[in-house]
Amino acid sequence: MTPGLTSGDRRLVCLIGKLFDNLKQEFEYRNLNIVESTLDEAVARCGEGARAVLVPPSQASEVAKTLGHLLRPTLDHGAAIYIVAPVGDLFAAAHILVSPEQLARKLSISIQSAKLLPVKAINGAENWERIAAQLCLTHDPGRGFSDDSKIMMQPESEKSAPDDQNAILIRRAFSDFEQIHLTPLHGKKLPINGPWRVSARRQQGRELIEFVVKTGTISGIGHEIFATQTACFDHMAFPHYPPVVEKRCTIGSERRAIVSMFVERAILFEEYILSHSPALAITALFDGPLRRWRRGGGVESVSIGRLCKTRRTLPPSAGTHGFNVAWRRAHKDEPEILPPHDLLGRLLGQPLIRIRKVQAHGDLHLRNIFVRQNSADVVLIDFRKTSELPASIDPATLDTSFGFDIPRVSPDNSLVPELLFELYKPPLLGRPFMLHVGNHRAEAIQHVRRQISDSVTELEYQLAVSSYLLWHAWWKRNPIAYRCASRILSALPRRS
Ligand SMILES: Nc1ncnc2c1ncn2[C@@H]1O[C@H](COP(=O)(O)OP(=O)(O)OP(=O)(O)O)[C@@H](O)[C@H]1O
Ligand SMILES: [Mg+2]
Repeated sequence: MTPGLTSGDRRLVCLIGKLFDNLKQEFEYRNLNIVESTLDEAVARCGEGARAVLVPPSQASEVAKTLGHLLRPTLDHGAAIYIVAPVGDLFAAAHILVSPEQLARKLSISIQSAKLLPVKAINGAENWERIAAQLCLTHDPGRGFSDDSKIMMQPESEKSAPDDQNAILIRRAFSDFEQIHLTPLHGKKLPINGPWRVSARRQQGRELIEFVVKTGTISGIGHEIFATQTACFDHMAFPHYPPVVEKRCTIGSERRAIVSMFVERAILFEEYILSHSPALAITALFDGPLRRWRRGGGVESVSIGRLCKTRRTLPPSAGTHGFNVAWRRAHKDEPEILPPHDLLGRLLGQPLIRIRKVQAHGDLHLRNIFVRQNSADVVLIDFRKTSELPASIDPATLDTSFGFDIPRVSPDNSLVPELLFELYKPPLLGRPFMLHVGNHRAEAIQHVRRQISDSVTELEYQLAVSSYLLWHAWWKRNPIAYRCASRILSALPRRS
């Protein structure tokens, strides 16, 4: 088989026009190979691993047509497009055609994503040959495509197979393998963008490790890769997160793929809690991945409610549908609870409080935490929302996830309302440990709260927990979460 080229192997540049000495030299000097190509040849060559397409000034009057032909197929294979136009009207026109606004419209993507595309207009004044060659050199096209690598679904199913765009990104990411076996990992929805477990194989050779791939918008996945690298690399010991395999994170015209290592011999906390007492794993979570993240950090004054609203933990308005459904259900059993408008108003109107800012995961629910089999070691995944946040945010997410995130497959694992009212009755911190022996979820909530009594005040925790209870009320239409939040917030002093 011919393995797909790596980014460094992709040294061919297609010139839509006549080659001349000076241009050739600039490319040769950079160890790049430039060849004359028609538009169709350029498209075909990008599919075979060309690095970029260069449109010289002589073609400037045809830019709109050229772009229409090249844009999608070139970008889907990671190649860049550079258009050189002579100074004046033609340059202005080319500049507009490759502006993020125009590209976003043509490709139906966001302007933010379009800004990251390798499509540029070069001013055809002096030295454009050098500038073009340098841009081609510094562009990173990612892995190239190979016709020989095939995707195979496990179990065989059309429904969970990636669509054409995703298939190209995945085949490029793993183009050094003949067979790319994909297994969907999402239980709850059709995996349009994954994640898929990837088991890649060559005909001969040793067994390979497994990966996980998911796709998303160019800017969104770009942010996830950047956030994972910056939050984890220097701050979290390596067994506690699956590294991103950057050289396999391919970019296309509409989407980008993120590839990370598969967490082996581990089960999700969601499943672990069904059969294990959680104390050891929760201690391991705060002592392991969260240890350095939660140390130090400055003190600031913030409104927890407003912060949660910005982070979309709270419904955007009192009239939001799911939130109102939860209220109507809750109101039937407890007529005195606060209506949506008053409840949100009570939370958002709280005065600023002093909090400690720490590095937080930002989405620490039970499906983003793995516990290793035969040990209580913990591995975190999905760092999309990681950021510096008040020290209460991760614990409150986890606390309410134990309380209310009940997998559909095991409804009998839910906590009865009386116990939830008891667990979410203030004070939340520093209460004598009222173990409900054998009830793993109740134990877990109390263990989480034990870990944070030195970093989070009672008031901060009540506000953070109320915010996440309201998330469950809103998204899961959960009337008990609504009632718990209403009880906590009703007991807080009103702002004068
Ligand atoms: N590196 C990994 N190793 C093993 N399994 C993984 C890995 N990454 C993701 N998964 C599985 O895929 C599921 C979804 O992954 P991930 O959280 O990255 O996607 P998501 O679209 O953000 O999901 P959600 O919206 O539920 O948070 C996880 O709950 C886990 O079961
Ligand atoms: Mg997730």
